[in-house]
Amino acid sequence: MTLNEIALKNFKNYKEEEIKLDRQITLLCGNNGSGKTNLLEAIYYLQTLKTLRQAELIQWGTPEGAILATKIEEERPIKYSILISNNERILKIGEKSIKRVEEFLKGSSIVAFLPHHLWIIKGGPLLRREYLDRAIFNGNFNYLHIIKEYRRILKQRNASIRQLVNSTDKEVWDRQLIKSAILVIKERQEFIKKIAPLVTEIYSSLSATKDILTLSYDMSRDAIVEGDDVAIQGYAKLRRIAQEERFRQYSLWGPHRHDLKILLNGYPLGVAGSQGGQRLGIIALKLAEIELLKQKGVIPLILLDDLASELDPIRRSLILSCLRGSQHQIVLTTCDPGQWAFKDAKTVTKYYIVDGKIKTIF
Ligand SMILES: Nc1ncnc2c1ncn2[C@@H]1O[C@H](COP(=O)(O)OP(=O)(O)OP(=O)(O)O)[C@@H](O)[C@H]1O
Ligand SMILES: [Mg+2]
Repeated sequence: MTLNEIALKNFKNYKEEEIKLDRQITLLCGNNGSGKTNLLEAIYYLQTLKTLRQAELIQWGTPEGAILATKIEEERPIKYSILISNNERILKIGEKSIKRVEEFLKGSSIVAFLPHHLWIIKGGPLLRREYLDRAIFNGNFNYLHIIKEYRRILKQRNASIRQLVNSTDKEVWDRQLIKSAILVIKERQEFIKKIAPLVTEIYSSLSATKDILTLSYDMSRDAIVEGDDVAIQGYAKLRRIAQEERFRQYSLWGPHRHDLKILLNGYPLGVAGSQGGQRLGIIALKLAEIELLKQKGVIPLILLDDLASELDPIRRSLILSCLRGSQHQIVLTTCDPGQWAFKDAKTVTKYYIVDGKIKTIF
């Protein structure tokens, strides 16, 4: 899949603009606040339907916004559109309205480095779980079903705890939770097993230091011992904590409490890493993700927002050389085009963004 064109209407600071993207590298240049990140957010939203708050995507003072795009799939242009209002979102492929998110997103694999992704390192476990689930889904479409099913069961079990259901019903919900949890845990563990060595290797090759970055799946809050039977441990724990769950009115066991540990020399990267080190950590994660997808024959679209800041020129050129050999379509932003020295200028299309207007650079 290639994203050929994207048009924005009342999307953040874009009134009505369209842009044709390069099959390889599109470089968006512009001053602070011009709209570079906003454009990447539009692409990210198109490819994931994920945003922190949908209402904030619409231009201030207007009732609705839209993203229209043409993707090339197997040589054929296909039109996608999203109409966004405060409390609604209408998805279309061609003229056909699409209800199921899975259908709209099929084949739209993306790996993005956006500013808020640094919170994967600096923030709490929720963001790391979200990262993990998205990354797994990127290479395994079936995982969306697994994780959605887990969330549904979790929600219903929480409701059953609040309603003080009888012990037979509780058993049913416990069984369902554990069954679904096992599937989620298995997928997450398998993914981490594959990506962790790549992340360690990529971080070492990018870093100027001898620091070692490691990744692991952390189930310690549930005291689950890896290698032991999760179901047996789960039933025993749920029995032990039944009273506490009734008191807290919430499920206190399961993958919604697990974490992805990202450690630098054994300490959390968010605490132990320098600014540049934290950035490199996220970049190593993303590059490893790209490599895993490549092994599966999936070529994701890559978004890199303001990647160059806080990285020295050697780091920048190392990252670029990791990406250059590939077939990926890459969209990146910068305040300073001089920071990005592409050797083969033919493969790069540059645009300049001024206050929500996109201009071509000849
Ligand atoms: N909903 C909205 N409606 C209209 N304008 C908005 C909306 N949300 C954000 N903006 C405008 O978008 C601008 C920020 O754009 P953006 O974050 O894309 O800039 P940028 O080019 O990435 O800047 P930087 O180089 O600092 O990262 C804000 O200054 C704000 O004026
Ligand atoms: Mg920005």
